[in-house]
Amino acid sequence: MKDLRTQVAIVGAGPAGLLLGHLLRQHGVDNVIVERRSREYVEQRVRAGVIEFGIANFLEEVGVGQRLRREGLTHHGVELRFDHQTHRVALSDLTEGKTITVYGQQELVKDLIALRLGDGGEILFDVEVSELDGLSGPQAVVRGKGLEDEVRIECDYVAGCDGSFGVATRSVPASALRRHERTYPFSWLGILAQAAPTTEELIYARHERGFALYSMRSPSVSRLYLGVPPTDTLEMWSDDRIWEELNVRLTTEESPKVNEGPIMERSITAMRSVVIEPMRCGRLLLAGDASHIVPPTGAKGMNLALGDIRVLASALVAQLLEGDERLLDAYSATCLERVWRAEEFSNYMTQMLHPSDDDFENGVQRARLRQAVTTREAATVLARNYCDLNGL
Ligand code: FAD
Ligand code: DHB
Repeated sequence: MKDLRTQVAIVGAGPAGLLLGHLLRQHGVDNVIVERRSREYVEQRVRAGVIEFGIANFLEEVGVGQRLRREGLTHHGVELRFDHQTHRVALSDLTEGKTITVYGQQELVKDLIALRLGDGGEILFDVEVSELDGLSGPQAVVRGKGLEDEVRIECDYVAGCDGSFGVATRSVPASALRRHERTYPFSWLGILAQAAPTTEELIYARHERGFALYSMRSPSVSRLYLGVPPTDTLEMWSDDRIWEELNVRLTTEESPKVNEGPIMERSITAMRSVVIEPMRCGRLLLAGDASHIVPPTGAKGMNLALGDIRVLASALVAQLLEGDERLLDAYSATCLERVWRAEEFSNYMTQMLHPSDDDFENGVQRARLRQAVTTREAATVLARNYCDLNGL
C-alpha cells in the first residue's frame, strides 16, 4: 500500500489536471496527480487542436508556451462553406487582432508532462482512482489501485479533472448535483492523415450530405472530420469511403481536391452537451470535461477546461497559502457563467452546420449561416466567441 499525504490530489492527467499541477507547483502548493492510463497512452491520445487567443497567452505567461509558439500554427481567419460556396470569417479583423493557434492537444499534454517530470515532479500513471471519501469532513481521502500497489492519498482538496465518465462526479450523492444534458443525432468520425493540407485555414462545411471539417496539425499532417449517424462504427468506413465523402463535402469549384494520405489515427465521437453543477462539493472541485461537455463544433472543450484551471489554481492558492476562502467559495459560480456561454456557442455552431432531416430546420440553418457571413454584427459575435470566449 502506498500511503501519501498532500495538499491537493488531482485525479486525471489530461490538459486540466496537468495544468493545475503545474500552476500549484509554481506557487509552492504540494500536489499529487493520479492517472489511470499510461504515460504513452495519454501522450498519444489525439483530440483537440484549436487553442484560443487568451488561453495561448496564458499558457505562455505560465511557462508552458515555448513549443506551442514555435510549432503551433497561427490562424487569422476561418472558412464557412455552405451551398457550395466559401465565405471567410476574418477573425483577426473582427476581434482587434486576435488569432487562434492550431496545436494538438497531445502536444500540450506532452509539454506539461515533460515540465513536471523534468523538474523533479511525479505523476502516478497506471493508477485508477476508485473512491473519494471525506469530501465534507476535515480531510479528504482518495483511494486507487495501481499495477502493483493500492494507493491512498490524504489531502485538503481533491481536484476532479478526470473527464467525462470519471469517478469524481460519481463520488458525490446524486442529490447534490444537477445535470443538464442534450444529445445530438450525429457523431464525428475524425482522422489524422499523413497528407499536406490543401487549405491554410480551417474549413467548416455544411453539405447536404452532412458536416465536414478540414483542420491540420502541421504542413504535412491533416486532421479531418465527417459528421456521421450516431449508429455508425469504424468498420463501416473504409479509407476509400472516408476520402470520397470528404471530397464530396469539402471541395468546391475553386478548391477541387482534398489531399489524401495514410490514415494514422481514426475514431468516432458522440456529440453531447452536458453541464453538471455546482462545480464544488465540499472538498471536491470539478474542472474540465468532468463537469461539462460541449459538442466539438466550436472547438471549446479543452479551452474551457484550461479556463477552469486558471480560476481554480488562484482559488486554491489563496485558500492554502493565505487562508482566504472567498475565491474558492465563488469558484463554481465564476466558472459556470463562462461554461454556459461556451455551451451556447457550441450549440449554435453545431446546429447551424449539421444538416437535419427536418426541412424547416434546414431553412433556419442556412439563414443563420448567411447572416454569419453577410452581417458584420453576427460575424463579430462568431469571431469573438471562436477566438477568445474564455478571455472575453
Ligand atoms: P480529459 O482530457 O478527458 O482528461 C481526463 C483524464 O482523467 C484522462 O487522462 C483519463 O484517463 C483520466 N481518468 C479518468 N478516470 C480516472 C480515474 N478513475 N482515475 C484516474 N484517472 C482517470 N476542445 C477544444 O478546446 N478544441 C478542439 O478543437 C476540440 N476538438 C475535439 C475533437 C474531438 C474529436 C474530441 C473528442 C474532443 C475535442 N475537444 C476539443 C475537447 C477536448 O479534447 C476535451 O474537452 C479535453 O480533453 C478536456 O480535458 P480534461 O483534462 O478536462 O479531460
Ligand atoms: C479541431 C477540432 C475541432 O473540434 C474543431 O472545432 C476545430 C479543429 C482539430 O482537431 O483540429
